[in-house]
Amino acid sequence: MSDMGSHNFPAARPLPSTDEEEVVPSVATHAPSSTPKRSEGHQIGEVIEIAGSGSRIVMDAAVLASLSDHPDKTITMAGQVGSQVKIRVGQTWLLANIRTQKLHERQSGLILAEIDFLGEGDEERLTGHIYNFRRGVTRYPVPGSVIYAVTTADLKQVYASDGRANVEIGTVYPTDDIRGALYVDAMLGKHFALLGSTGTGKSTSAALILHKICDIAPEGHILMIDPHGEYSAAFKTNGRLFDVNNLNLPYWLMNFREHCEVFVQSTGDAKQMDCDILAKCLLAAKAKSQAAAGVAKLTVDSPVPYLLSDLTNIIQNEMGKLDKSTNTAPFMRLKTKIDEIKADPRYSFMFSGMLVGDTMADFLAKIFRLPAEGKPISIIDVSAIPSEITPTVVAVLSRLVFDYSIWAKNEPSRPILLVCEEAHRYIPNDDIAGESSVRDILSRIAKEGRKYGVSLGLITQRPSDLAEGVLSQCGTILSMRLNNDRDQAFVKAAMPEGARGFLDSIPALRNREIICCGEGVAIPIRVSLDTLVEERRPASEDPLFSELWRDNGGEEEIIQRVIKRWRSQGR
Ligand SMILES: Nc1ncnc2c1ncn2[C@@H]1O[C@H](COP(=O)(O)OP(=O)(O)OP(=O)(O)O)[C@@H](O)[C@H]1O
Ligand SMILES: [Mg+2]
Repeated sequence: MSDMGSHNFPAARPLPSTDEEEVVPSVATHAPSSTPKRSEGHQIGEVIEIAGSGSRIVMDAAVLASLSDHPDKTITMAGQVGSQVKIRVGQTWLLANIRTQKLHERQSGLILAEIDFLGEGDEERLTGHIYNFRRGVTRYPVPGSVIYAVTTADLKQVYASDGRANVEIGTVYPTDDIRGALYVDAMLGKHFALLGSTGTGKSTSAALILHKICDIAPEGHILMIDPHGEYSAAFKTNGRLFDVNNLNLPYWLMNFREHCEVFVQSTGDAKQMDCDILAKCLLAAKAKSQAAAGVAKLTVDSPVPYLLSDLTNIIQNEMGKLDKSTNTAPFMRLKTKIDEIKADPRYSFMFSGMLVGDTMADFLAKIFRLPAEGKPISIIDVSAIPSEITPTVVAVLSRLVFDYSIWAKNEPSRPILLVCEEAHRYIPNDDIAGESSVRDILSRIAKEGRKYGVSLGLITQRPSDLAEGVLSQCGTILSMRLNNDRDQAFVKAAMPEGARGFLDSIPALRNREIICCGEGVAIPIRVSLDTLVEERRPASEDPLFSELWRDNGGEEEIIQRVIKRWRSQGR
């Protein structure tokens, strides 16, 4: 046992602990004399500079080496970049994360490190354990304060749930028994983003998290936009699955802008002209419908059923009223496009004549899961929707979520979570795409959704392609490995300060490892995700070429079936 009171501590060179047992310091400046002796753990260094976010410490390389075969896995990690250290300040313990390491220039055997403070917890008087851990620091240590290695027992206390509703998603790195959890209310209250390069396990992690949420909230309301048709396989038992065959999204739920995106093909001045004509004729068509009878202020945006044939007839009539010198081309363009869409079987999920009835209540009820009836998530597989209209369909669905929540403000609250896979496709930054209704509505939900009980979950492999500001609206960032520098820089900018040490490990994460920071966790954590059982996994298995290329047989039938589906545009 060595006496490690700070009085005996040489200014720049902490004493190595001589044995593997817990070190009991003499009661010195670190503890008031009334406190009993307690086990504080292994001293590994001391604070040399406190400077707001970027404080520095010095550690003894020999001590760190001597701890590297300690039975406690957390202690073996002491001093490593991304690991934590603790510092006592009065009756509280501060926890800090090591961000960088470098050799001391003049004194060999010493390692300089930069640290970020994560939070503080109180000390249990008898055992010296940390409890009641919280984010933020009220009192900073002074230079010279001793740095201790964090133990698994400490981390257990720190990561222990504080009683708020949470979902466990895996084990906290580097331990193999401490559970890492996300606080559901804090995470959903301020949106979340799930990031990671392709193949790192984003979709599976999303399924894992959503399953856990569905398990604790069987009467929840989650809408997932699934561009690759992966998630239906994962939510067979606890979700409602929609695709082109059963979505039946009525065209008249589109607002005017969305109508323009679908019906108006021209650009420049001609576009404006076409839109003006469409506005006039659309309003007239809506006014003709029975559903509009009780609507006091009918506008082009009002979601009331109207007949597409009424719309084309009105366009035709308007064209007939023109004098000879006026150009009829805009009218012809519009009418031709609408007729074309009406006749195109690929569009029938939205523009079929069957969809003219007033099904708004049923439609909202089924996609928002109101009531959920034990299936709190609806998966909307948009993979078979013609690609030119997919952004508009996503816009309509997202806007319905937002508009519903606005108009339901005085009703009993039913918050809705909207999850968007491949989010960079729909909210791209200015360099990639110009104006679009889907980008506007998703950006608006990112900014204002919280006030109306709409939560956004964005999943993307290309965070740097997202529209500016969207990532910083996400209170919780869940990041898997990101290989690209630009993406890392974007995530870095959006992450809270204390998480910077974790950030450096983002390019080095293994598959299925995830860094969680922000509102959803008490302090940033690196979690090794649980294995998701096969029947709950999305259908995104990596193909095993070496095996599959040994199989053959039945090719003729396969091709026939594929062509049949291809031609009939149905699965
Ligand atoms: N927690 C997990 N449990 C079981 N399998 C997993 C887990 N995480 C990832 N996998 C496996 O890893 C592979 C890739 O995962 P996934 O499809 O989720 O990656 P992704 O990041 O969504 O990829 P992409 O960017 O191409 O969509 C899959 O075969 C999946 O089964
Ligand atoms: Mg995926």
